[in-house]
Amino acid sequence: MYKTIEWTDEGIVMIDQRVLPLEEKYVCLTHYQEVAAAIREMVIRGAPAIGVAAAMGVALGMKRLPPETPPAEVTGAFGRICGELAATRPTAVNLFWAIRRMQQKFDELTGEPLPAQQAGLIAEACRIHEEDIAANRRLGEYGRALFTADTTFLTHCNAGGLATGGYGTALGVIRAVHESGRKVAVFADETRPFLQGARLTAWELQQLNIPTTVITDNMAGHIMAQGKIDAVVVGADRIAANGDTANKIGTMMVAVLAATCQVPFYVAAPLSTVDFELAEGRGIPIEQRDPREVTHIRGLQLTPDGVSAANPAFDVTPHPYITAIITDRGVAFPPFNETLARLAGR
Ligand code: MRU
Repeated sequence: MYKTIEWTDEGIVMIDQRVLPLEEKYVCLTHYQEVAAAIREMVIRGAPAIGVAAAMGVALGMKRLPPETPPAEVTGAFGRICGELAATRPTAVNLFWAIRRMQQKFDELTGEPLPAQQAGLIAEACRIHEEDIAANRRLGEYGRALFTADTTFLTHCNAGGLATGGYGTALGVIRAVHESGRKVAVFADETRPFLQGARLTAWELQQLNIPTTVITDNMAGHIMAQGKIDAVVVGADRIAANGDTANKIGTMMVAVLAATCQVPFYVAAPLSTVDFELAEGRGIPIEQRDPREVTHIRGLQLTPDGVSAANPAFDVTPHPYITAIITDRGVAFPPFNETLARLAGR
């Protein structure tokens, strides 16, 4: 079984998601700058996975400080490392959440000798990783309870083990239903332009022996209108307090189509994906990626020379389109600004 990310004595090992499914290649990163580049260039991607990677990146950067580094320089280095990792991708809140956790741990360790600080930060990053896997499993269990019959799902992008510390959020729900003995089938949107659905979701589901049909994104409405889909389940990069959900570009289109076809639309995400500081989705920063991801596929040019292309990587699904949000502390139904806050104990 593959591992999305792992802390080792040699460095941070991650599966290179840019080359899947054609190649199963692992990279070992030994400098935090390499971790920042890996997040930016999508060697690792998916909101919870980049949170884990950033936490490990902080621990890695700090581990490399020589033992004689004066305390003021240690603090300076910590700020610089966190800043560089935070500047990699703007939308997924898990990245900032994980860096904040590392900051809290660093603050707790103030005054300790550097080796103790380094060990404490490594332990905290590994804890964030383990907690994410455990949160996904709990979330999967809550989701499973919603689907008590054989179910055909539609999903968009990849919210599986590859996008998390392991197990998955949207795919975690699908896996849990499958593991409960129900007959499960999945339609996976290809997810242009980076093809997370066609490449990664299809690969993961194949390994789990879950029957999967890849469709291009523009087929989703037709398939739903034919009555082939019982439920849509997707992951999230950031959820505002009112339930508005940023996820991979195209998710909003699927949500609107699902409402039109009366198919329930579920979001699956740990509570660490909820940004309670944002009242609504309008404030969520949307990453704009290189237009070359749209104009080219693996170096093959698709569009005329010089044509301009847009590449917003995420969109925001307004909360009225969302049937429920499946979290690691239970399922939130509308009104989300009340139910999410209650689940988070706020
Ligand atoms: O650009 P990506 O591949 O990082 O986007 C990933 C998604 O949009 C996922 O659906 C989301 O992060 C949830 S992953 C559990």
